[in-house]
Amino acid sequence: MLRVAVLLSGRGSNLQALIHAMSSSDFPASIVCAISNVPDAQGLMRARAAGIETLTIDHRRYSSRELFDLAVDKALHERGIELVCLAGFMRILTSIFVNKWHNRLINIHPSLLPAFKGLDAQQQALDAGVKLAGCTVHFVRPGMDEGPIIAQAAVPVRDDDDAASLSERILTQEHVIYPSAVKLIAEGHVRVDETRTIGGKVARRSSVLRNPSLGDL
Ligand code: GAR
Repeated sequence: MLRVAVLLSGRGSNLQALIHAMSSSDFPASIVCAISNVPDAQGLMRARAAGIETLTIDHRRYSSRELFDLAVDKALHERGIELVCLAGFMRILTSIFVNKWHNRLINIHPSLLPAFKGLDAQQQALDAGVKLAGCTVHFVRPGMDEGPIIAQAAVPVRDDDDAASLSERILTQEHVIYPSAVKLIAEGHVRVDETRTIGGKVARRSSVLRNPSLGDL
């Protein structure tokens, strides 16, 4: 069983999707703890409801990013964490932390990376007029929203979409590909080759490479 920690700052719907997937007895990973930098994050309540240990590490109590990251790092080591999943964690991590967790730290982002990095990715997609939007699970590297891609799902952009409706369509897919990506990693099917992941046939299954259905339009 791969020991997983989830870091979040808010709603925690991706955490919920991971909890749901891991409740199945044959899932090869389990969430050991959920950590938030925001004391009243809804995600912490979801974790507690599932019997998962929760920790608040409030960034406002630390005088630097380095000290905050050190506190997170310590909590992860104390619990024997093997994989860290960022799920709506809205703090930039220092490169020291990111490098320590090289290939053991993954993130989900609501765009088809490398397009639309940073905040408000869905609005960025609307502003650019793209016809396909989506989401990406990737290993984290020091650059923002950079790193080898593990899973992606595309969704169509409708003419009448606003940020809320597009975000919701993307979020549905986030909840599919995030657990699938964790499963692939836990099963040992994901290898990192410099800037990309390679995993052969198994890692190319439809749960991690999802296409839009025109029926959604
Ligand atoms: C998700 O849409 C996730 O992709 C995004 O925040 C949301 C968190 O929702 N993450 C980022 O934008 C990170 N750059 P959740 O708290 O319900 O999982």
